[in-house]
Amino acid sequence: MTIIITGAAGFIGNHVARLFVNKYPDHKIIALDKLTYAGNLENLADLEGKPNYRFVRMDICDYDSVLGLMRSECVDGVIHLAAESHVDRSIKDPLAFATTNVLGTLSLLQAARTAWGERPEGSEGRRFYHISTDEVYGALAMDRPDGGDGPGGGPWGSRLFTEQSPYRPHSPYSAAKASSDHFVRAFHDTYGLPTVVSNCSNNYGPYQFPEKLIPLFINNICLRRPLPVYGQGLNVRDWLYVEDHARAIDLIFHSGRVGDTYNIGGFNEWRNIDLVKTLIATTDRLLGRPEGADLDLITYVADRAGHDMRYAIDSSKLSSELGWKPSLQFEEGIERTVRWYLEHRDWMERITSGDYMRYYEDMYGNR
Ligand code: NAD
Ligand code: DAU
Repeated sequence: MTIIITGAAGFIGNHVARLFVNKYPDHKIIALDKLTYAGNLENLADLEGKPNYRFVRMDICDYDSVLGLMRSECVDGVIHLAAESHVDRSIKDPLAFATTNVLGTLSLLQAARTAWGERPEGSEGRRFYHISTDEVYGALAMDRPDGGDGPGGGPWGSRLFTEQSPYRPHSPYSAAKASSDHFVRAFHDTYGLPTVVSNCSNNYGPYQFPEKLIPLFINNICLRRPLPVYGQGLNVRDWLYVEDHARAIDLIFHSGRVGDTYNIGGFNEWRNIDLVKTLIATTDRLLGRPEGADLDLITYVADRAGHDMRYAIDSSKLSSELGWKPSLQFEEGIERTVRWYLEHRDWMERITSGDYMRYYEDMYGNR
């Protein structure tokens, strides 16, 4: 099989590319990425030189180039992760999100439909897998603002997002992702394209761009900078270790039902403020600082516009049908994550200084 993984130089994409390259030596893996500010080729450095791996710098919106690649490489599968992914940026620049997330996805769908339509066997055995988010379902209510019994004090409400939950996106980011999900479904229903979609909760782990809560805050704790908690810090997110998401993607790509949707989540709800305190405690302990030394870095700032109160995923369909479950307890995952960022201060510094952009130039010429 020849598989294109779009957005492979981003956070989740590099974990998926690594899993596929190492697990499937007979599959040819093409890591495709435009290398926007969020793409970092250094994230894929350990895969360079592997015989079943190749990196291609390409914009998914460039239909002619995408179609050309699908034809010349006889691509059998697409795992589509490329996107503008940060909610705060979508509030400032919604058009960029519609362009990449909606039109870019449409360009890929149309290229797959065309390229596969030209093959004698058509779409038989092919797969277009679209990676989406729980944010398309909107926000859930908090039934118990005073807390619950489970990990992180959750679950924080009785309702969870299931595959049947209605789409109610609130941010330009989630509206664009919702729109792309609808196009994927339309291509299945209208043209018979063999698609599958999954909607996952918040990922955490190594190689996440430090604009997102967890890597931003670990870096700020190290540097003793303020930790900007939006609103009162009471919003709830369901956190999943990124390698567990990559394992789910592998399973759904190979065994998921064509035309179907799978929710992926950790049954692991945390209020932001509790998560931030856990990050401070873990980082301080690993740095040998006294307990509670950095709690005063917490700084409450203006809330995010349209800030979704709570996300929580019911992933029981994926567990019962395909046998997936998260492998890590959250405490273990957070410890592993904080350790990784502390051991990769140079990776972080190359991003915050802008030097990471030169990695591509050094290898391939001007960015
Ligand atoms: P990311 O921002 O870290 O990476 C996105 C990657 O896409 C980057 O490498 C970027 O260069 C690339 N890209 C952007 N525009 C492109 C274009 N026009 N053409 C080609 N490449 C382009 O994002 P992430 O957190 O790794 O998320 C990956 C996917 O998973 C996204 O579709 C996102 O919606 C989805 N998702 C993310 C999470 C999460 O918690 N991070 C959870 C659920 C779903
Ligand atoms: O739910 C899945 C989604 O998770 C993905 O689809 C998105 O691509 C991904 O970015 C993530 O979205 P969030 O908005 O939940 O992630 P973020 O890390 O930006 O924020 C997590 C929570 O922390 C959210 O409630 C906002 C809050 N926050 C975030 C930042 C960056 C703060 O309080 N302060 C901050 O500085």
